[in-house]
Amino acid sequence: MGKRFYITTAIDYTNGAPHLGHAYEKVVTDVIARAHRAMGEEVFFVTGLDEHGQKVQQAAAAEGKDPMTYCDELALQWLALAKDLGLSNDDFIRTTEARHKAVVHAILSKLHASGDLYSQPYQGWYSVKEETFLTEKDRNPNGSWDPKWGQVIPLTEENWYFRMARHQDWLVAHIEANPSFIAPACRRNEVLGFLRSEKLADLCISRPASRLSWGIPLPFAPDWVTYVWFDALTNYVTVAADHGDPAVLHPLGLPAPASPMAQPPLALWPADIHVIGKDIIKFHAVYWPIMLHAAGLPLPLQILTHGWWQKDGQKLSKSTGNVVDPIAVIRDWGLDAFRYYVLRELAIGPDGNWTDEGFQSRYNAELANGLGNLLNRAVNMLNKYRDGIVPAPSDELAPDASRAVENTSQLLRQNDLQGALVAIWDLVSRANLYVEQTQPFKLAKDSAQAPRLDQVLYNLVESCRILAILLAPFLPDTSRRILGQLGIPAPAHPHVWPLTAWGGLQRGHKVAAPQPLFPRKDLKPMA
Ligand code: MSP
Repeated sequence: MGKRFYITTAIDYTNGAPHLGHAYEKVVTDVIARAHRAMGEEVFFVTGLDEHGQKVQQAAAAEGKDPMTYCDELALQWLALAKDLGLSNDDFIRTTEARHKAVVHAILSKLHASGDLYSQPYQGWYSVKEETFLTEKDRNPNGSWDPKWGQVIPLTEENWYFRMARHQDWLVAHIEANPSFIAPACRRNEVLGFLRSEKLADLCISRPASRLSWGIPLPFAPDWVTYVWFDALTNYVTVAADHGDPAVLHPLGLPAPASPMAQPPLALWPADIHVIGKDIIKFHAVYWPIMLHAAGLPLPLQILTHGWWQKDGQKLSKSTGNVVDPIAVIRDWGLDAFRYYVLRELAIGPDGNWTDEGFQSRYNAELANGLGNLLNRAVNMLNKYRDGIVPAPSDELAPDASRAVENTSQLLRQNDLQGALVAIWDLVSRANLYVEQTQPFKLAKDSAQAPRLDQVLYNLVESCRILAILLAPFLPDTSRRILGQLGIPAPAHPHVWPLTAWGGLQRGHKVAAPQPLFPRKDLKPMA
């Protein structure tokens, strides 16, 4: 049983509808998953929902629904999003599932037995309205509490804590010894800076069931439920356990699951990449490794951290209406236009800014006039001048194509998805320029130029074929449509990278009819 490349997204809170930020993270993860499959690896990609905790309990109460009904309803929307985004995920986890509770219990029991957990009363200031303890940092300079906290009362509460300090030194050493553990480097420096300058406080991993009932009860103290972050992080190993992965089952003392999903068992853990947003790095790069280490499980290989999207330079916010609805964009412009814009516009790391003008201008310039026009001209001319029959191979653009393939492969290995798209578009531009330079429509008028026209046409359609393969991880539907117009059936398996070699189109092969890939659109206000 070979270890699969295991990649995850953060799991989203079921307390509202999905937005651009959630969609972006999923698209990024999907592209990395597809790229690894394209290059011949066995991949397992999981996304899902974080359904417990106060945020969800409050959101359900606000709608007068019990939390489970509320989550079940919202889960349909999130599952639909995964479909609309064309995700190639192999599993979808919800933290309210029985398979998850079993693994959370196993980890908690192990940590309890090893002395990593202890209970203690805590006295502090508590915001009744926000249902949270406040710290001195939350106080106004004059000592008062901001009205947003509502009534603030002193409260004493018994809770369960996870001893953190004993883990600080090895974690620092681990991050130092593994430069790619936290990516990009600026985030790694941020975490190291924090760990070197502050002593880790023990983590409160419970909430009294009397004030928060929507959670997984502690196995050794059922009057408390598990802190939602402890619960949520565990999802990454739940999935592995549920698919029968011995790397998780053995250390946690769990039996092999009877579920058909575990037949045959898969080797998933440790995760190769957790893709997350910058706001949740401390949970993934500090608490999660400590939880795993304390439970005797290996650490993930990489925490890949992306930035946050804004729109028109302002925070995304439902209340001010500054939002981008990914579903509406996909409905109006097509899935691949959405995937292309978010991947091309923003590298994994910095923050991004969505503008409708930027979206539409990339659509028209790069998708419609760039890629779409190239394919259209190539297929159209081959049909018009050669009845759609591919002439003898010629390799004038082969060096440009192989440069694009090499650059794309290398950039994909570094998770530089934006750079890889730039490398692919170098070939799009090169091939479009080749049309301008060779002027096939003029060659066609002179029968003495027939051999030259054959060469030009071959180079154009073969470049388009290679572009379709390179685009497969990014724009899967566009890739299929390009191949379709070239008369090539969709590849039988995802391991398509070997097809990037020049010369795949054979003399005599017949292409299909041209169809616009990305119909040009007038600039217009977006939904
Ligand atoms: N439930 C937790 C994650 C638990 S993972 C074990 C959570 N959920 S969330 O719904 O608030 O966020 C899910 C992901 O979306 C996070 O990685 C977060 O960074 C990302 N984004 C939320 N808003 C975002 C933007 N505006 N831009 C980009 N990504 C953003 O946190």
